[in-house]
Amino acid sequence: MKTLAIETSCDDTSLGIISQQEGVFTVEKLIAYSQIKEHNQYGGVLPEIASRLHSEKIVALLQKIGRKEIEDVDFISVTAEPWLPWSLIVGKSAATLLSAYFQKPLKNIHHILGHMFSLLIERKKSDLSFPLVVLTASGGHNDLYLMQTEPLEERIPTFRLQDLFIYKIGYTLDDASGESFDKVSKMLWGPYPWGPRISEQASKSQWNEQFAFKRIFLPLKDDGLFEFSFSGMKSQVSILLEKLHKEGKELTETDIQDIAYEFQEATIETLWKRLLKAAQWYGAKMIGMAWGVSANERLIQYLQTAIAWKKIDDEPLQLIYPKKKLYSTDNAAMIGVVGLMSE
Ligand code: KG4
Ligand code: ZN
Repeated sequence: MKTLAIETSCDDTSLGIISQQEGVFTVEKLIAYSQIKEHNQYGGVLPEIASRLHSEKIVALLQKIGRKEIEDVDFISVTAEPWLPWSLIVGKSAATLLSAYFQKPLKNIHHILGHMFSLLIERKKSDLSFPLVVLTASGGHNDLYLMQTEPLEERIPTFRLQDLFIYKIGYTLDDASGESFDKVSKMLWGPYPWGPRISEQASKSQWNEQFAFKRIFLPLKDDGLFEFSFSGMKSQVSILLEKLHKEGKELTETDIQDIAYEFQEATIETLWKRLLKAAQWYGAKMIGMAWGVSANERLIQYLQTAIAWKKIDDEPLQLIYPKKKLYSTDNAAMIGVVGLMSE
């Protein structure tokens, strides 16, 4: 089976041809127009500009995919929800027209399921082990999902896909972790790219005990739902910066790297520890992470170390994250994977 996939939910116009070959979700073509530079000057995504740029770029991208390729697909997959309504509508209109013109069925795909199943791009479903607990963390979300082949008692699944029952088991009460990376990065430097810049600068730090941020763990309740809170992270950084400013201290480049380091350590400690706790709670065989923050190398390092010693029910825990950094951000390949799985 082969699908044309279209993703226009935010600031990337992404199109792809995705097929399943001997079980492997294969990316035959993946092209995109990223609007980053247009939004950058405003410090965030402007919905009206996003929608206009999708409309301007999508036809040229479709031409690049090629008429013959589109004729060859079995169906079309498009991101239908959620996100910026006027951006989504560009992809949905294009998909609806193509579906009618080429006589291909149309599948509406949920964007969050797409991010979850970005884990399967260039992989097979059998590469997943269940129960699986996945962290989906980005600039707007910070959730934990449980995927398993058996239903949980007295809980309604958030999603169903093939034989899988998918439950939301964690969420943030305020900021998302990616959002706190973005806000702190803006405080320390300003321009884009925010999250990756924190990581890059933090990697140059030797650690400075003068800067210490509190780790924010919300108390665990006994209902198996895990809560996060990240707004306090940016407050800790801004209070520190204000204090140093009042003391008349000029921050050196090294100070800024050290603050970035400590901020990153404090933020990702909450993520990896809570992910492991949730895995233990639900008897997971595998943990995973997807979406923007899953590109964080330090988080990957901690999780790799953690699974080396962590056993649940005497079984070693496995770890999975997107095969390429490109698959951590919005892309049509993940939408195609969910489309193919919905067959
Ligand atoms: O997928 P994406 O483009 O969607 C959202 O905008 O939500 O993800 C971007 C988010 C941003 O918040 C960004 O700071 C974060 O993912 N991010 C990172 C890293 N790379 C991207 N956060 C921490 N460390 C990174 N290396
Ligand atoms: Zn996304």
